[in-house]
Amino acid sequence: MGRPKSKHPRARTTSVRLTDSEHEDMARAAAAAGFKTVSDYLRHLHERSRREQAAATPEAQPNTASQFPASLVRPFHSTQHGTIYQGDSRSFLFGTAAERSVDLIMTSPPFGLVRKKDYGNEDAHRYCDWFRPFAEGFRRVLKDSGSLVIDIGGAWKPGTPTRSLYHFELLIMLCEEYGFHLAQEHYWWNPSKLPTPAEWVNVRRIRVKDAVNTVWWLSPTPWPKASNRRVLAPYSPSMLDLLANGYTAKTRPSGHVISEKFGHDNGGAVPPNLLAIANTESSGRYQDFCRGEEIEIHPARFPPQLPEYFIRMLTDPGDLVVDPFGGSCVTGMVAEALGRRWACVDLEEEYLRGAMARFRPVPASLPKLRTKPYPLHAPCMLPAEEVPLVADGGKTRPPVGAAAKREAVAV
Ligand SMILES: C[S@@+](CC[C@H](N)C(=O)[O-])C[C@H]1O[C@@H](n2cnc3c(N)ncnc32)[C@H](O)[C@@H]1O
Repeated sequence: MGRPKSKHPRARTTSVRLTDSEHEDMARAAAAAGFKTVSDYLRHLHERSRREQAAATPEAQPNTASQFPASLVRPFHSTQHGTIYQGDSRSFLFGTAAERSVDLIMTSPPFGLVRKKDYGNEDAHRYCDWFRPFAEGFRRVLKDSGSLVIDIGGAWKPGTPTRSLYHFELLIMLCEEYGFHLAQEHYWWNPSKLPTPAEWVNVRRIRVKDAVNTVWWLSPTPWPKASNRRVLAPYSPSMLDLLANGYTAKTRPSGHVISEKFGHDNGGAVPPNLLAIANTESSGRYQDFCRGEEIEIHPARFPPQLPEYFIRMLTDPGDLVVDPFGGSCVTGMVAEALGRRWACVDLEEEYLRGAMARFRPVPASLPKLRTKPYPLHAPCMLPAEEVPLVADGGKTRPPVGAAAKREAVAV
């Protein structure tokens, strides 16, 4: 049987004159972006540019309450301080929430991952377009003194050992198109991250483990309310020694003058913007409940310390914290425990049914004892041989298993 005829046959052709290197370049870019032909790639570029132009024109329709009415979200469960909503968070942002009512948006949107996870990721190329209505909603509901914190992982481009720029594009879009300020970027280092993608890291040995998520802390004005005194870290042993035994003011080799005040005990050290939090939790109240009720465990939960750090640093008790991509409601759980008002919204009822474990029979409390510090080694600590570099950059796959043994014997 022949192929059914297309409703819109591609009957027209056009030729594009290119140099050899332009052609090679384009074919490589098309393959790297996952397109079978240069024609498909060009069609994609045209469509993308058309959409970008449409979004940039003054006539582009702003997102409004009529597009995203409050009726598309419903309260799912309420606690003393907060409410879980089920539905599309754009409806919450344009319909339910009042303008300039929110002190902190703490969230982790679906990532533009190449290998899609099962909670509806968007293709990296379309990510910014998809995000626009949320960005507009965030601007609408945030107070001038408020903050927007977005935890977002990076992504590899399909088929090549190179990285997508989507999370940087998102940051630039939020600042340049929506007027957010980058208060400070943070990096969440997960010491227990597995070395992926195995092909680049373990097989071809041409990249290293990708173990950090970027966390963009943004604000509608350059002056969001904040205090680093709320998130102090334990002093290092050398600082404790110095506090106990005194310090003589002196000039460092860099010329930096360290004053007497350096020896003052402030109750802890100002933390760096690298947040070391292992995300290994595989048992506990939430998981036990989900397993018992045969509810799907959310595949991308926050470790509680991540929202806790930002909620403590950026909000006061009684302030309003919102997570528009709430998932299993870790943000809500932490906000409840810290006496902040909160709202979490998620499309998927199943995730919210699982989230109930965090609030019933009584709201979960935050752990008193925190994990030990993780060692972070300085680079090049081990003596290493000058093994040959992978000269073709890993383009060809090294032989593995029996083939590698045969090759070794032959040599
Ligand atoms: C990365 S997960 C967030 C996980 C969450 N931080 C936690 O700790 O469980 C992203 C969530 O966004 C939800 N989501 C995607 N689009 C949405 C939308 N338009 N409105 C509300 N939720 C949405 C997905 O169902 C998914 O649970």
